[in-house]
Amino acid sequence: MAVITDKLIVEKNSGIGRITFNNPDKLNAMSFEMWRDIPVVLDDFSTDPEIRVVIVSGNGKKAFCAGADISEFKENRSSEDDIAEYQKAVLRASEALASVEIPTIAKIGGYCVGGGVGIALCCDLRISNDQSRFGVPAAKLGLGYKLEGLQRLVDVVGPAMAKEIFYTARQFNADEALAMGLVNRVLPATVLDSFVEDYGQRISENAPLTIRAAKIVIAESLKSRETRDEELAERVVDECFESADYLEGQKAFMEKRKPRFLGK
Ligand code: COA
Repeated sequence: MAVITDKLIVEKNSGIGRITFNNPDKLNAMSFEMWRDIPVVLDDFSTDPEIRVVIVSGNGKKAFCAGADISEFKENRSSEDDIAEYQKAVLRASEALASVEIPTIAKIGGYCVGGGVGIALCCDLRISNDQSRFGVPAAKLGLGYKLEGLQRLVDVVGPAMAKEIFYTARQFNADEALAMGLVNRVLPATVLDSFVEDYGQRISENAPLTIRAAKIVIAESLKSRETRDEELAERVVDECFESADYLEGQKAFMEKRKPRFLGK
């Protein structure tokens, strides 16, 4: 793997691929290199049959990610060309994360702000601790968000809350995030790590093709009828029924034992 910046810690163990944002002095703000390297890491994870789940988190106790590294804006986001280049890197990283066929969990311990919310929204599940704070301060910085980025927020929290988040640019606490559906669940800070570890492990033991099919079919279901790839949605479901794992699931049930799924 041609990685990469030391601001991403990349690990693989027990069937789980881990990406940890490692810029704790800046609340894990994203440098250009971090955006650039995310697709490389995900490409490696998705071609490794051992990896069944990806957990994305931030290093340290204060933040998941405080968005783009604002200290780089002058250098990387001033000229039209630089802005376009930067946006391309953000878009590529977001697309890679949102479309990777392995299930993804954002483990949110602390601030999840701006582009941090964008990254969390690219993950399938968002699990936070009760100290976390969420917000999109774009209206305090004069930034604009493109359709691709905003669509995910609207899909998750709906248009009314998306507008409240953007118009007020304020911070929301974990209970508010839970109420609007921005996070799946909120846990005491002391148990966040073990809970996510256990959840990741459980998911990694389930049938990978079923999970992949669910991810793809749910993504297609969010598109308009005209742009949906119905063929793809059919195909991934057929692949489940044609798989050895489908037989293994039935056999294990009858034999009252845990199934051993291979993803084929
Ligand atoms: N880019 C660069 N540096 C950042 C950063 C970012 N997005 N977010 C935080 N930092 C740095 C701060 O400059 C500070 O550095 P310093 O110790 O050298 O002064 C350090 O991280 C700690 O942040 P601080 O603001 O002191 O922490 P806080 O607990 O008071 O506030 C936030 C936390 C998240 C509310 C605040 O840091 C913030 O608003 N960050 C910017 C978030 C943002 O606008 N992101 C959108 C970019 S798309």
